[in-house]
Amino acid sequence: MDQPSLFGEHPHLFEVGGGKIFNVATVPMRSPFRYPGGKTWLVPYIRQWLLSRQTRVKEFIEPFAGGGIVGLTAAFEGLADHVTMVELDDQVASVWRAILYGYGEQLANRIASFELSTESVKKVLDSPANSLLDQAFATILKNRVNRGGILAPGASLVKSGENGKGLSSRWYPETLKKRILDIAHISNRITFIEGDGMEVMRQNAHRKDASFFIDPPYTLAARRLYSQWKLDHEELFRTAEGLAGDFLMTYDNDELIRSLAATHELQIREVAMKNTHHARMTELLIGRDLCWLGAQ
Ligand SMILES: C[S@@+](CC[C@H](N)C(=O)[O-])C[C@H]1O[C@@H](n2cnc3c(N)ncnc32)[C@H](O)[C@@H]1O
Repeated sequence: MDQPSLFGEHPHLFEVGGGKIFNVATVPMRSPFRYPGGKTWLVPYIRQWLLSRQTRVKEFIEPFAGGGIVGLTAAFEGLADHVTMVELDDQVASVWRAILYGYGEQLANRIASFELSTESVKKVLDSPANSLLDQAFATILKNRVNRGGILAPGASLVKSGENGKGLSSRWYPETLKKRILDIAHISNRITFIEGDGMEVMRQNAHRKDASFFIDPPYTLAARRLYSQWKLDHEELFRTAEGLAGDFLMTYDNDELIRSLAATHELQIREVAMKNTHHARMTELLIGRDLCWLGAQ
């Protein structure tokens, strides 16, 4: 049986705290990815942020898009006039390019008709991708059969998976098909750029009508989680400081980041979340003025 297409592949992962309880069941699962470091749990905050603005956001820019749940939510819920998502990893980028630039239906059909077995998975993952569609399909498959959805080199296949279902434990073809077709349907609201998010921030630094959601690779685990994990964090803070538009950054709650935020006279707020292992952790929200969060 396929999974429900919208609410919650893993609803329990998205409890948020920090004195504020959001109904996380109101966050539709729209991304075709299960993304390490994915920010579905942050979506209620993003809604609150964008809806608190006095002037509507014209361009919502997500420079480190990954699974793109934040940009997708903004586009589906009309929280901005237009959304631009940027991603440097060519595997991840191939999926966004295929869906948003004319191959969504073919990708969806390929997923729906794929007969998943150890052999068929191995065949796809071991063959060179000859087209954008091949690469996008192989990426979605890899994301679904690799442990933790990790696409970086060295990631291993799931073993017993959920309920001992092995490789197929996260393969929900009809759900994926629907999500992909839904995104393709609103592709006129989304621009995807394969490239450096920091560069796109610089190019749009003068725009007062743009807002940026900045979720860079950071944790010590980043190297294991992402192929593209290297980033100059001091430069990212300088670039963010130079933006004419509003921005919201998320980072691990750690001393170096707290001191960078202080140097750049930015506000920080801790938010609680539960990670995949149900451990309570806090992450930082960083911005020029976080008063929209209210007292917590
Ligand atoms: C923490 S993840 C983003 C997760 C995303 N917010 C989500 O909900 O799925 C960071 C992403 O930034 C990407 N990345 C790393 N360096 C980048 C760069 N210079 N420009 C654009 N993307 C980059 C990584 O490949 C990774 O997908």
